Amino acid sequence: MGMVSSKSKLATEHRTATEAGFHRCWYPVALARDLPPGSAVGRDFLGTRVVAYRDAAGKPVVQSAWCPHLGADLSIGQIVDGRLRCPYHHWSFDAKGACANIPTGDKIPPSARIFTYPAEEAWGLVWAFNGERADFAVPRLPGAAESTIVHQAHERGRRPWDTWVAVSNGVDFQHLRTLHGLPAASMPEQLEVEAGGIEFRVESPYHLQHGRISGTNTFAQHLRIGGDDMFMLFSGAPIEPGSSSGYVVIGVPQGSAEKLPAVETMVERLNAEDAPVLSTMRFRRGLLTASDRHLATYFRYVDAFPCFTPTEQ
Ligand code: FES
Ligand SMILES: [Fe+2]
Repeated sequence: MGMVSSKSKLATEHRTATEAGFHRCWYPVALARDLPPGSAVGRDFLGTRVVAYRDAAGKPVVQSAWCPHLGADLSIGQIVDGRLRCPYHHWSFDAKGACANIPTGDKIPPSARIFTYPAEEAWGLVWAFNGERADFAVPRLPGAAESTIVHQAHERGRRPWDTWVAVSNGVDFQHLRTLHGLPAASMPEQLEVEAGGIEFRVESPYHLQHGRISGTNTFAQHLRIGGDDMFMLFSGAPIEPGSSSGYVVIGVPQGSAEKLPAVETMVERLNAEDAPVLSTMRFRRGLLTASDRHLATYFRYVDAFPCFTPTEQ
């Protein structure tokens, strides 16, 4: 009996999450270098599809990929004079999503619009916010500005997990010792929870860990171990429930670019250790004990996180 009710509870939780949409977060949709001027890329994102390109000023634009005329995929269209042109009948759309031209000269219907996500370029990534307006600033690396570090962004491809589950890793302090074997790792006294983010800092004579969760999909940290400063950001964008695209940014202070490969090795190691667990677990909020108190805080933060359903207009 107990089994049946907990199973149906899980099913209900899943259904509710899907119907409510996806968290109102900044999601990485492409590497900035994959978006040269004049080209458009398509991404499966938030249960639908988006197109990303640069406007005439070079600023990234992320919009619904479905043409309001007959539904062609705009990401296989062309960028003409900084505007997105549908491959099928050449309707074109401006950076705000309004149809700006129909080649036949027909009157443009007022509802000929495509949904336009707030978009930003930062840390070598193009980010889109799931909402009409952004609720908070684009994710950042604690203790760094783009001008103070040398950084590199990489794409990880499709991953079989929800981004908010992967981000719980950032405040799962037990697993730093058990799974990653980091003996110096310790737990912060408390997490600073704010709207749209969680921050913490742990310092010992041997190390510094300054971590920051942005939204429910990005975990970034500044680590100092043996006097070396390392910066890393892990983020992901939901493709659909249970599946996401992964991105990572690594960095070191300006002037020490030769130390970047060591950060990359460390990030690869952490990923190789986490991925087998994350990709096979059947996630649940199970029996949390005293050492899981920061995880419990994170799960409450996730439960209260606002959602938005992307419109396919
Ligand atoms: S389907 Fe896009 S212009 Fe006709
Ligand atoms: Fe981990």
